[in-house]
Amino acid sequence: MARRNGKARSGMVGILDVGSSKVCCLIARLDGEGPPRVIGAGHQVSAGVRAGVIVDMEAAEQAIRNAVHAAEAMAGETLREVVVAATAGGPLSRRLDVEVAIDGQAVADTDLRRIQVQIAAFGDGGAPRLNGNGHVNGTARPSELELLHAIPLGYALDGHRVDDPRGMHGQRLGAAAHLVSVRAGALRTLRTVVESCHLDIEQIVAPPVAAGLATLVEDEMDLGATVLDMGAGTTNIAVFNDRRLVYADQVPIGGAHVTNDVARGLSTPLAHAERMKTLYGSAMPGAHDDIDIVDVPQVGEPDAYAANHVPRSLLNGIIGPRLEETFELVRARLADSGAAPLAGRRLVLVGGASQLSGVRELAALVLDKQVRLGRPLRLRGLADALAGPAFAVPAGLVAYAAEHSGDYGVPEPLPTGEAAGLIGRVGSWLREHL
Ligand SMILES: Nc1ncnc2c1ncn2[C@@H]1O[C@H](COP(=O)(O)OP(=O)(O)OP(=O)(O)O)[C@@H](O)[C@H]1O
Ligand SMILES: [Mg+2]
Repeated sequence: MARRNGKARSGMVGILDVGSSKVCCLIARLDGEGPPRVIGAGHQVSAGVRAGVIVDMEAAEQAIRNAVHAAEAMAGETLREVVVAATAGGPLSRRLDVEVAIDGQAVADTDLRRIQVQIAAFGDGGAPRLNGNGHVNGTARPSELELLHAIPLGYALDGHRVDDPRGMHGQRLGAAAHLVSVRAGALRTLRTVVESCHLDIEQIVAPPVAAGLATLVEDEMDLGATVLDMGAGTTNIAVFNDRRLVYADQVPIGGAHVTNDVARGLSTPLAHAERMKTLYGSAMPGAHDDIDIVDVPQVGEPDAYAANHVPRSLLNGIIGPRLEETFELVRARLADSGAAPLAGRRLVLVGGASQLSGVRELAALVLDKQVRLGRPLRLRGLADALAGPAFAVPAGLVAYAAEHSGDYGVPEPLPTGEAAGLIGRVGSWLREHL
């Protein structure tokens, strides 16, 4: 498929985010001037998706069809192609260093292509893992992974970092890339389901890429910032530094786990637990929690009088620990992967579950960062209902489709003959230079 390299495009784009709690389809018009304008939106309660992975193809297909039809009806257009977010048991973050011999010549475009070939060749295996994502790591063999993004991190000539090596002389040209992969099987299932809705997949994007593109401001992207997309079934981590995604990971806990804990802990139906959580719940204890009383309808008791009356401290005593656990896992992932020094002081929270009261304060405490709540930037025409933090990933997919594809795309594999010349993977020069 012909794609431009990092250039803005014009026309229409469609995106699809198949989440654990909602499916969202957006259609946006790109006129080359200003941010994309949303002309159609459909969102719909998700079905058949657990922790971002499709577990019931028929149910998921129906939910996707409904969301797409709603967006098409609003836009008055028919979608043929979509850019799709894929959690698919990922993301798996790996870092790859490659090197080719230049032998004193000036670096030419063909050398950069040789570098690209190396990166593409290593894409599905070999590169060391950065993260500890339970779904993929430890169990998946390289062939079970599919590469979504190979993000260039920089070049080095004879071990010295250079911005653009073309025309420079040296012996060895090195490059580093950040590879983001997902589970190949889960991705194939997602593809099958989307295609059964008569949609071609233009591009597949890892949700952390989209979350960052939608919400980070320029300074945050430059100086280093972490984005947490707190969804229903997953919490996605993205670390941006020097304008690039340098680390992506996922903790398999989200807002649905909090709701489940409340339902179980207070013996109340899930729908009530969800309502109590959003209306009265907080991640942080409040001064009046012991005297504030909330009604808890009991499972199997249709009569409101049969409700239990419990202090709010009981509710928050269930919610707080689950969120604390989530943030502690995030902190451990950042520390274990070596991404912590790149992650910056700034933490941006998005996703539906970031709307819980007290989440910002708790995140600041556990992760020791300046925390702000994010919402989609760089998109026009978003109705209020779609401008909230739960729609960061859909908005980021539109931004990606509009202009960023070239920066994050997988390098096109070249004919194998050109792949000759690999010296080997080199040391971690980039870590020292970043
Ligand atoms: N006001 C609120 N306060 C607390 N939690 C909320 C609020 N609104 C929504 N949530 C929670 O947000 C979650 C849904 O978030 P989101 O729409 O980002 O998930 P998703 O994209 O479908 O899931 P995932 O990304 O995990 O696959 C639900 O668990 C819901 O309970
Ligand atoms: Mg989501």
